[in-house]
Parts: sequence; C-alpha cells; structure tokens
Amino acid sequence: MVDGAGRILAAAPFAALQRLHPGEPVQDLRPAWILPGLVDLHAHLPQYSAVALDGLELLPWLENHIFPLEAGFADPEAAVPAARLFFAHQLAWGTTTSVAYLTVHQEAADRAFREAEACGIRAILGKVMMDRHCPDALREDTAASLAQSAELCETWHGRDGGRLGYAFTPRFAPVCSMDLMAGLSREAEKHGAWIQTHLSENLDEIARVRELFPEARDYTDVYARAGMLGPRTLLGHCIHLSEGERAVLREAGATLVHCPRSNAFIKSGIMPLRQWLAEGHRVGLASDVGGGPSLDLWGEMAAACDQSKQRWAERRAQLRRLEALDLDADARGRVAEALGLHAHAPITPVEAFHLATLGGARALGLERTIGSLEPGKDADFIVLDPRAADPLADRAVLRPEEVLSRCIYRSTPGMVQAAYVRGRRVHGR
Ligand code: GUN
Ligand code: FE
Repeated sequence: MVDGAGRILAAAPFAALQRLHPGEPVQDLRPAWILPGLVDLHAHLPQYSAVALDGLELLPWLENHIFPLEAGFADPEAAVPAARLFFAHQLAWGTTTSVAYLTVHQEAADRAFREAEACGIRAILGKVMMDRHCPDALREDTAASLAQSAELCETWHGRDGGRLGYAFTPRFAPVCSMDLMAGLSREAEKHGAWIQTHLSENLDEIARVRELFPEARDYTDVYARAGMLGPRTLLGHCIHLSEGERAVLREAGATLVHCPRSNAFIKSGIMPLRQWLAEGHRVGLASDVGGGPSLDLWGEMAAACDQSKQRWAERRAQLRRLEALDLDADARGRVAEALGLHAHAPITPVEAFHLATLGGARALGLERTIGSLEPGKDADFIVLDPRAADPLADRAVLRPEEVLSRCIYRSTPGMVQAAYVRGRRVHGR
C-alpha cells in the first residue's frame, strides 16, 4: 500500500493486507510478485546503439566504436530519442534507478536529464569529462569541463525531491588530467554529488595509467591523489586490483561496480565478486551498456552467478591438480594460498538479486529511501509475472528462491508487467 506522497504504507501478502486494512481497496495481482525496483549502477546512455559489436578489447573498442558515436551528441537533439528509448527499456526490464554516463556535451546532457524528469525514472546522470588523450571532437578544456559540469549539477542535483541526482563523471584516468580530477572532486564535495568513473578494467588500460601517472603507486592511487575516493564514488569494473588498492578502496567506502557481461564481452576478465564481498567492499551490479549487450539486469544477475560458478569450478580443478602433486600438506597449503586457490562458494541468485536492489541502494547511500519494500521507503517497485519465465506456465510448484532463480536465468521482455517510482506508474498496464 502506498500513501499520497508515494511512500510505502504497508508491505505484506495479499490476504494479510486485506485483514490488516479492511475497507481499503487492495488489488489482487497474484500470481505476480511485487518486488523492489532494480538499480543499474553503471551504463552509458549514448552507447545503446553500439551494443554487441564484438571483436575488440577496451581501448580499440572505445576508439573504433564508442568515440565516433559519442561525437554525434554534439547535436543536442540526438540525446532526446536516445534517452527516451534508453529509459523506457530500463523501466521495461524493471530498472527503476538508472545511474548513467552521458557524453561530454552539456546541452545533450541537459536534454537527457529532461527526458528522465519527464518519464518518471529515478536517475543519477553525469556529463562525461575528458581533457586529454582523446579525439579532438571530444576533448574539453579543463576549466570549461568543470564549469559545465558544475552548472548541470546545480540545475539537476536533488531535483524533484531527490528523484534526480548528479554524478561528476570523469571517463577514466587515461583521458583526464590531475587538475580536472582534483577540480571535480572539490565540486562533488561542495554539492554533495556523486562521482562515477572506471577503474582497473583492462590490462592495457592499467599499463597506460602507469605510464601517464608515474608518480602514483597504482591506478587506485591516481584517484586517491585527486581526492576522488569516498562513499559517494562509484567505480566501474574493478577487476584487477592489488591488495593495497583494495585496502584503500575499502577504507574510503567506495563502491566497486560489477559489470559481468561487459567484462566478458570485451574480454576484460572476471571480477572476483565473492572475494570482494568477503573482504567487506561495497558492491553493486550494472549493465554497462554498450560494453554489456542489454539493459536487462536479470541477465547481469545470471552472468554474475555463472561467472562466480566458473571461477569456483576452475579453482577446484586447480586444487585437485595440486593435490595430485607429490607435496606435503604444508607446502600444498602454501602453494594454494599463493595462487589464491581457496574456493569460495559461488554467488547465489538470491545474493545477485540483493546486489541489484538493496546492494545498489546502499552503494548510493539511499538505503533508507529505496532498495526494499519497507514502510516509509519510497514506493519504487515492480510487478513481476514469474509465469513468463516458466516453460510450463504456472504448473510448477517451486519455493520462492527457485522462482527467483528461474526469473533471473530465463528473463524475458514481458516478465515485468509494470514498474512504479514513488507510487507513480512509469511502465506497463
Ligand atoms: N572505460 C572508459 N570508457 C569506457 C566505456 O565507455 N565503457 C567501458 N566499458 N569502459 C570504459
Ligand atoms: Fe562503462
């Protein structure tokens, strides 16, 4: 039940709601489920038309497919249909909170925000910033980049009672000067805005950062020196992190954003999700369109589970091979330790769903507002019909976690019947 301000009044099974609130109109949606809306923590709105172009690794993929496409947003009108389609498809898949990168263009960014405002989605967006080592058409003057970002932040951050927010968006260290990164850290702090960027996705990217910032200890240290790391910082990918980097990130309370299908698609690697969670990092889940092929976050949950199972199975096989060697137990233990072979349990579908909902909300510091169905929170929820994912349509008798697993592994476009943000229907019948 939702109050007039779009907040959850009560959340309970249908029969209990009827009993507890006699006389109130309660709609029976069974066998559909009401679930919290999904939080996609990292995607690139302008890249939706470049999804699934296979073959290249990160840096050549950016040069060949992405930068030319993003240059087209110099025409602000290009952002309008792109944003409309992007948000509509996110909502259709059940994503009610969209955290996304735009392009370097201020006007186009403004149009994208207007579309988010109009369609009702909860959105945290940011104009991309890059002031060196990128094509002329996209390279910004440092001061202009900071000024335009600050202006967008002043216009949009906190708009509509906090439904819209701003994230300062330096693309990644290889295309940003230290002055730009230090400047935007100060701006983000001043406005209480988020910062989003990429970290440690691809080995060639990491090597380039080492060349460009020889004074820094490692990639993470570049962002630390710029003052970018804090609890409002979202770091895409975070695959190849050293122990020292992880200690810095954990201390800062920054979020490591898992983008499993993108990581597989552009051959970046497999993020050690279980390990990062066990070490106590904040972690969220994301589509990373256009590195990822789709805005379907259920598919990302499935990929997170599958990649985690793959890591587990590979490690187990390596341990078996180690056991077959003629080593004493002590030596074997040391080798296993050095190679990080201790098999962690794979991520379960329930855990993946948690990452895509309350985990994402916590990453944004919005766990008191969204992420689960509790009285007092904003009514951001979806109506999910599990029959859409069931091959025998409604004949199976499954436990709830089994139904959820089905929906994650067999997501279909019609599965989400409706989506609501603050009690307002933003998708569906
Ligand atoms: N690193 C810097 N820019 C990008 C981007 O657009 N997509 C991905 N996946 N990684 C990046
Ligand atoms: Fe990305």
